This record gives sequence, structure tokens and C-alpha cells, in this order.
Amino acid sequence: MKLLALLSLLALMLQEAGTASLPKKEREGGEDQLHGEGDSHTVLHLRDFDLSLDNYDEVIDPSNNDELTDYRDQLPKASPTRTSFTQSTKAPRTPPSNPVMARPMTLGLPVSPTSHGLPTCLICVCLGSSVYCDDTDLEDIPPLPRTTAYLYARFNRISHIRAGDFKGLTKLKRIDLSSNFISSIDDDALRLLPALQDLILPENKLAALPVLPTGIEVLDVRLNRLQSAGIQPEAFRALEKLQFLYLANNLLDSIPRSLPLSLRSLHLQNNMIESMQTDTFCDAEEHKHTRRRLEDIRLDGNPINLSLFPSAYFCLPRLPTGRFV
Ligand SMILES: *[C@@H]1O[C@H](CO)[C@@H](O)[C@H](O)[C@H]1NC(C)=O
Repeated sequence: MKLLALLSLLALMLQEAGTASLPKKEREGGEDQLHGEGDSHTVLHLRDFDLSLDNYDEVIDPSNNDELTDYRDQLPKASPTRTSFTQSTKAPRTPPSNPVMARPMTLGLPVSPTSHGLPTCLICVCLGSSVYCDDTDLEDIPPLPRTTAYLYARFNRISHIRAGDFKGLTKLKRIDLSSNFISSIDDDALRLLPALQDLILPENKLAALPVLPTGIEVLDVRLNRLQSAGIQPEAFRALEKLQFLYLANNLLDSIPRSLPLSLRSLHLQNNMIESMQTDTFCDAEEHKHTRRRLEDIRLDGNPINLSLFPSAYFCLPRLPTGRFV
């Protein structure tokens, strides 16, 4: 029974390989400057993707030179096995010309008959616990296999993250949605993801942060439209594993409060910060080097005169980068 399902999947894949010449889009047009640059990082194109299993290993190159990822990048070891999909996705582009594809897929699990179109692992590449959907013109998060641990959906057109998008994905460790058009994230979309460590969202249009899951270690929201009013006063307090907080190139006018002691890097360069509280980093009562780990604070590119706050840094291992005059 399982073998039969596998064979029919293989047949579908081959059919799809024959018919899936999705129309080449205006990607080269560069309507959005940031978006246009994406092409150079992009390794996976479905339309260039030869589905023969022989060269499966070569097609997927997880060690792509992605300069957006300037922190530790722990890609899982790629194993050349396809994760089986369980659901169909809303076809982001062409409706299927092939009548077989219009039929809901049934590989043991029920599929909503209203969802038609390509299953996620035919649009994206599912490899071990990783799902690669870079540059596939997605407008929503597609339904993901339950085993997904690493999601890459960079250089798409996703504008909104819905509360149910990651529901039940208890293994999900990393979400990378760099270079989309995301302007809002429902508060419940990420909050309950128990395994989430890395949330990578640079080059989007976010003005506010959603509620974050407590296990998060890396939050990258560079190059968005974040305002201080869009960050809850206690947003980071409970995030006791947070080590890298990248908020550069936004519209913040203050340094976020209640930063956890786990923090190692705080990047706030190129914002609109003019002032700070004396106790932003150090608790005056304690007189200890409580922030030993916080070695990397960037405040350059802000209108703040850091010399005005001489008693704000005593607990830090080194002074912030920025303007001392
Ligand atoms: C910055 O603050 C210091 C200390 O109060 C002051 O001497 C200096 O003139 C200020 N610089 C500017 C550019 O405001």
C-alpha cells in the first residue's frame, strides 16, 4: 500500500516535471530594489529543477552564500530523502493543467477537497526536515509537513503571517522569511512554537513585533519599519535564551527595555534613537558586571550622544559602538 502511494507520487512528480514550466516572472524587473537583489542568493528554482533522482544531491546546495545570514548558520545535514507531504497547497500561480493534479492528494491522510493545486513538496523542495521554498512566488505560508524543522521561504511575496500558518509544527526550529513583503504577523502565529530558535525576517515591512516564543535565540528583523510603539515594553523579558537581537535599519526611537541577560549582540544601528535611560543596560543597585555576555552593542547611525550617559555602561564588558563626543 505504501509502495503504491510512493509510485503514484513519483508518477505525479514526473508529470509535473514535464508540465511545470511556470511562467518566468518579472523578477529581473527589480520593481523593489531589495527584492531584485534576491536573485543572486537564490539557489532553488523549481523551473530549473530537474526532478530526476540522480542529481538530487547537487541540486540542493544548503551552503549557499547567503550574505544575509551573518550569524551561525546551522543547517541540518541534508539527507537525500523526500519528506512525504500530507496536504495540498493553494496554488500560488498557475492552476494545474493536468486533471490528475486537480484531484486532492490522498497519501493516507485526508486532504481538504477545496484545496487544489500543487502539494507543498512539489513547489518547494523537502529534504529531510528542511523545506526550501525560496523564490517560488509564494503569497502565503504553504501547508508544511509536520516534521518540518527548517523553513526557508526567502524572496517571495508573502505579506501576512496568519495565526494558523505554523500550527502544530512542534519541531520547527528555524523560520527564514527574508525579503518578503510581510507587514503583519498574527500574535498567535509564533507564540506557541516550542522548538523555535531562529526567526529570520530581514527585508520586510514589519512595523510591530508579534508575541515571541520563549525559546527563541536569534531574532533578526533588520531592514523593516519597526517603531518603538510596535515593541511591547516587556517583549523580551521572558526570552531567557535570546542571544542575538538584530534590529538595525528600522524606525526605532528608543532602546528596547527589559533585555534578558542571555543577550550577546544587540544591533540598533541606523535607527532614530536620541536618548536612553541610565538603567537600560545596568541596574544601578547591583554594581556588578551583570552583562558580561553583552559584548556587541551597536548604536551608530543614531542621533544619540552616548557621552551624555556616562553611568549607563558600567556593567558592560565594553562600550557600545556609536557617537561619543
Ligand atoms: C555630547 O555630550 C557631551 C557630554 O555632555 C558634550 O560635552 C558634547 O558637547 C555633546 N556633543 C554633542 C555633539 O552634542
